[in-house]
Amino acid sequence: MPGELVEAPIEVYRFDPATDKAPRYERHVLSLAPHTPVLTALLRIRAEEDPTLSLRYSCRSAICGSCAMLINSKSRLACQTPIGPEIERHGRIVVDPMRNQPVLRDLVTEMTPFWSQYRRIEPHLIADPAHPMPEGRPTSMTPAQVERFRETPRCIACAACYSACPAVEADPMFPGPMALAKLYRFVVDPRDGATRERLVRIQPNGLWLCLRCHLCTEACPKGVRPSERIMDLKELAIAAQGATDPGSRHAVAFKENIRERGVLNELKLARQTAGTAGFLAQLPQGVRIARRKPELSKTPPTIAGKEEVEKLYEALDDGGSSA
Ligand code: FES
Repeated sequence: MPGELVEAPIEVYRFDPATDKAPRYERHVLSLAPHTPVLTALLRIRAEEDPTLSLRYSCRSAICGSCAMLINSKSRLACQTPIGPEIERHGRIVVDPMRNQPVLRDLVTEMTPFWSQYRRIEPHLIADPAHPMPEGRPTSMTPAQVERFRETPRCIACAACYSACPAVEADPMFPGPMALAKLYRFVVDPRDGATRERLVRIQPNGLWLCLRCHLCTEACPKGVRPSERIMDLKELAIAAQGATDPGSRHAVAFKENIRERGVLNELKLARQTAGTAGFLAQLPQGVRIARRKPELSKTPPTIAGKEEVEKLYEALDDGGSSA
């Protein structure tokens, strides 16, 4: 019904590291129209109930990327998330600061780690000395070339993907989805003269730590689909350098391993990924695993219907996907 209001219980994370021993949640109940953005609700709490609440925002139109936060545990833009569906689904709205970044105060996080990773990929064209750009303006690109990175410029650097990424949580040296999506943009740009160097440089502690969970793609409010760009980068890295990094060796070995019998031969995969020396170094751990799960130490039989698996591989090879 037009004009209908809903009771919205909102629990807001509060923490000032300078004065508080531990974070707490403050509960507010507002009457709001279902389409009201979470950001508007927070601004109303700040205007009417607690002027000390700290949060970032600017455009209120999903353009500036300032208002990313966790809303019911998902990384979202607060100005783009209406309260109605959240209340319907969860019965309340719990608002937290983004993950993977230290809290400065309440919902405001320190974004230096995020921006440091962005700088690490050198987010600018690097001229190719063999083909210098005409003075004052870059060489032009064809529409087909631009199409290859059509989605990446939509990124508003809100860091929702960085907050959602479990690989960043596990290893702060992982560049994160946004930096890698931006890297892809320069790697496929025909005007860039450092494609191979970029791909070689990013592999250790970089590309192959991605778990392919696609949480970054789910979190991205602009449809950049960073996880897909990371998969593209993996293929480009193997094409440029071969399977020389442990991560790329594992990806290529995994594919060839299953092709043999239609099922994964775990023992062989460990040897293919780590090489003989690495395999021997892992042997004590392998023996412990084999004691618990003896089936993993045996070569599995070829599955029935392996021809169907082979057909899948032929289709994959046609599409050129290995990572
Ligand atoms: S306030 Fe600018 S994106 Fe939300």
